Amino acid sequence: MSPRTPARLLATIALFALTAAVGRPAGASKVEKLPFGQAGGKAVDLYVLTDSGGMVAKVMTYGATLTELDTPDRSGDLGDVVLGFPTLDGYLAKEPYFGATVGRVGNRIARGRFTLDGHTYQLATNDGPNHLHGGLKGFDKVVWDAEVVPGPAPSVRFTYLSPDGEEGYPGNCRVSVVYTIANSDELRLDYTVTTDRDTPVNVTNHSYFNLGGAEKGGILGHVVALNADRYTVVDATLIPTGELRPVKGTPMDFRLPTAIGEHIKEVGGNPVGYDHNFVVNGPAGQLNLVGSVFEPNSGRAMEVSSTEPGVQFYSGNFLDGTITGKRGVTYRQYWGLALETQHFPDAMNHDNFLSDVLKAGTTYRSTTIYRFSVRPTGQIAGGKN
Ligand code: GLA
Repeated sequence: MSPRTPARLLATIALFALTAAVGRPAGASKVEKLPFGQAGGKAVDLYVLTDSGGMVAKVMTYGATLTELDTPDRSGDLGDVVLGFPTLDGYLAKEPYFGATVGRVGNRIARGRFTLDGHTYQLATNDGPNHLHGGLKGFDKVVWDAEVVPGPAPSVRFTYLSPDGEEGYPGNCRVSVVYTIANSDELRLDYTVTTDRDTPVNVTNHSYFNLGGAEKGGILGHVVALNADRYTVVDATLIPTGELRPVKGTPMDFRLPTAIGEHIKEVGGNPVGYDHNFVVNGPAGQLNLVGSVFEPNSGRAMEVSSTEPGVQFYSGNFLDGTITGKRGVTYRQYWGLALETQHFPDAMNHDNFLSDVLKAGTTYRSTTIYRFSVRPTGQIAGGKN
């Protein structure tokens, strides 16, 4: 046996152990750019971010939209955990913001109206009487520029210049979101926004997660924990009344891991289900744990942390079986869940909510991290959650 054999043997054992741990050989990290069709006469590109550990994220320049996210299940098999369409056409038709970056102001503004610096602005209304997710043609419906961010982790920066007056908003606003696969198990989103006039900003990502894989069923069996003692009470059009109500003793109590289906019928609403903003515990502006989701059959778990003070937990109530997505799967009610990290809804009209206003010449920064892991059978809780 040569003196080098033990080292080589150790290396082989280590490689085998790594392969066994993740269920497949590790490859190199890379970013590929593929053509993905055209929107409004502009070419749309799809960026495929592949991590050396196997995780894959696909993001297109239309809406800076996450179209696919592959993470391993308990057996190490990769599976897609977000809803979406196989081609651009699906996204160009009327669809509920699958994977999109939404803004300039995500969530609702009552009657699309607010007053800023002594001027009252009227925005587009696109959700009954209210403004929702940036209006008729929000950030989700425009083609962004993109560039690969150099470095060891697969990373792409998407940039969009939203002109003064777009959807009624004041100021030229430059927004960027960087998608990175960090530490081989995180999808990290870093937002930066600047403006030349004071304007409201509240950007978020609208991915619908189904950790079991959408072909296997809905999300009512997903076990959710939220680091939130309070939520914002809403009226019939989902506009906050201003009250921050303790979740204790209500179907909103996810302080301990709870299956989504357990109390969903008690939530009410039309359609019935969760579509509420929760107040994230912890100091504003710092990276706080938002919550976690666990899917018992696949073993996949997702932990969300964010610098945002709130999270809209949406249980896919409006999905009604009329949309067929990737792999021919029909998306029925409760087929995906969104955890939209954000400022509170209608913050422009509530002085007790953290302000949406971005002052001219200042920079808005926001980070949200989705970290994926697997848990053994039977274990529903993990860590603090
Ligand atoms: C958000 C809203 C919901 C709905 C979905 C998209 O989650 O809060 O009411 O608009 O987006 O359908």
